Amino acid sequence: MSETPNTTSTVFTPRVFSGIQPSGGLTLGNYLGAIKRFVSMQEAAFETIYCMVDLHAITVWQDPKELVHNTRELAAGFIASGISPEKSILINQSQVPEHAQLGWIFNCVARMGWMQRMTQFKDKAGKNAQNASLGLFGYPALMAADILVYHATHVPVGEDQKQHLELTRDIAAKFNHDYETNFFPMTEPVIEGAATRVMSLRDGSKKMSKSDPSDASRINMTDTADTIAKKIRKAKTDPDGLPSEAKGLELRPEARNLINIYAALSDQSVNQVLTEYGGAQFGTFKPALADLAVAKLSPISDEMARLMNEPAEIDKILARGAQQAREITVPILKKAYDIVGMIRA
Ligand code: AMP
Ligand code: TRP
Repeated sequence: MSETPNTTSTVFTPRVFSGIQPSGGLTLGNYLGAIKRFVSMQEAAFETIYCMVDLHAITVWQDPKELVHNTRELAAGFIASGISPEKSILINQSQVPEHAQLGWIFNCVARMGWMQRMTQFKDKAGKNAQNASLGLFGYPALMAADILVYHATHVPVGEDQKQHLELTRDIAAKFNHDYETNFFPMTEPVIEGAATRVMSLRDGSKKMSKSDPSDASRINMTDTADTIAKKIRKAKTDPDGLPSEAKGLELRPEARNLINIYAALSDQSVNQVLTEYGGAQFGTFKPALADLAVAKLSPISDEMARLMNEPAEIDKILARGAQQAREITVPILKKAYDIVGMIRA
């Protein structure tokens, strides 16, 4: 019988982990739902690790050259948005092999029935699920490993990732139960703010997404000021003026979305925005939103373009990040192997 290591301590260091797929193009949804909050959490009393999840990206086909480009561009987007490689550990997933190694163990902990309930799998696999990759089905087990290989306690994400984070807790709980340990923490999702679900500019019932066939439905982080202004001007709305309280937005998804975006970009609550714009028409509000969006996003896209001219610098940051990350992941994976009963030198 292998000895169970001493894992009775249940005090976990506050640690933040989150990831984004380098599958091409960052949207305002990614920025407000995720990256902007990654930046603010690095100012708090947390250790922060942010990841380009390239292994997740290949669960659907990626052209290899484009994947390299997109991974660097996402890193540039993180840095340009204010994630500092001095304050946070910035990595691409494949350079920290412990993610995939713990991912395998979690493939053996997670149950088929749990995976079959995942709405992101159903959406991405579409009608032809038989032709989806096995990786796409197992995706959430690798995501759980991304988080738990750091013993991360907090994960900032958009609303669409909530189900995956519940599954992460299920995997941690089943591992702890089956191996009679309390080795993995119960991670807390951090889904907060006015823009946890930014909607399409063309259809207030659909999430803003980089995979939407209509480019007018989203604001890309690399859009020019003119394009941003045009897309906001053309955003779908209703004929009414703006209400003076949040309650008045309940049945007006398009209006609510634009107000949420304004609130998140200007770091105000929805009610604060409505105090200023209640009673105004979209003819007044949309240009104000366009100006705000351009003012916040253009410095980021300019800086991204500058960083993309120095790919070697980006690669160096990621290599250093991987080294720092492995100081955390190697000992945690070793302990996990011991718990499971793997011989190692
Ligand atoms: P993805 O691009 O699917 O890898 O998503 C990366 C992060 O951005 C995740 O935390 C998502 O929850 C978040 N995100 C993506 N789209 C949106 C959206 N429309 N609104 C809010 N958050 C989003
Ligand atoms: N599944 C996330 C998405 O599609 C990306 C992701 C992978 C992630 N691993 C993660 C997010 C770990 C948070 C933590 O957006």
